[in-house]
Amino acid sequence: MFQAIQAHELSVSYGTALILHDVGLEVRDGELVTVVGPNGAGKTTLLRTLAGLVWWEQHAFRHEDVRLSGRVWFHEERIDHLPAHEIAARGLILCPERRRPFREMTVRENLMAGAYLVRSRREVAARLAEVQRLFPILWDRAPQRAGTLSGGEQQMLAIGRALMSGPKLLLIDEPSTGLAPVVKEPLFARIREVKELGIAVLLVEQDAAISLSMADWGYVLSQGRVVAEGPPENLLVDEVVRRSYLGL
Ligand SMILES: Nc1ncnc2c1ncn2[C@@H]1O[C@H](COP(=O)(O)OP(=O)(O)OP(=O)(O)O)[C@@H](O)[C@H]1O
Ligand SMILES: [Mg+2]
Repeated sequence: MFQAIQAHELSVSYGTALILHDVGLEVRDGELVTVVGPNGAGKTTLLRTLAGLVWWEQHAFRHEDVRLSGRVWFHEERIDHLPAHEIAARGLILCPERRRPFREMTVRENLMAGAYLVRSRREVAARLAEVQRLFPILWDRAPQRAGTLSGGEQQMLAIGRALMSGPKLLLIDEPSTGLAPVVKEPLFARIREVKELGIAVLLVEQDAAISLSMADWGYVLSQGRVVAEGPPENLLVDEVVRRSYLGL
């Protein structure tokens, strides 16, 4: 199967702190892959590195304490030395943790903002229809100011906005943070549907049980290293993994 993304020997350090250590990872087209692990494991840093934001910090802001090495391919093209916006233009879209909408803009305007790189009006209309089908609730609230949405609705809007840009691979960081259990379930069901649209998903979650239950492959990250990987059903029955890293 075609590899949407492949990362080899990714290492990131800030000053003397080694945050990622020789991380290797792969997501194939059409797959939902999850990275789980405790707080501070480096999950967010990993997604930010893949999206080109760490490289950007290093080069654009000349943060001299940032050290980055390793190689990343996106659909067979090396992207580890591309600026973040060029990576996004290729269809690798990051949905960051606690992503806030533009609060004073309406839900619809927020969605349209996600399509700013899409030139074809027909394409934008098709995407809107897709988001409407996936998140009918956003449609009901299209004219509402986004700042007034509930937490769960804001998270749906964040994913809807990412979908408007026509992603080939979505990196989603902790979508369930701060959400009540009753809201989590429908949100994860929608994420499964994103995968069914043919969009590869790399999902970072602290709720390992739920994200492993829906993934095709799982990585366990701890202290910046991949300490286990495999089919989720294997990870979920591995006593060491469960106890030491997943708190299950
Ligand atoms: N810009 C930075 N400068 C210095 N240290 C950083 C920076 N960004 C992240 N770190 C450190 O890297 C480590 C990993 O952070 P990261 O946010 O990637 O973890 P995480 O797995 O996403 O954690 P959480 O589950 O809490 O979201 C933390 O110890 C954090 O303090
Ligand atoms: Mg994080």
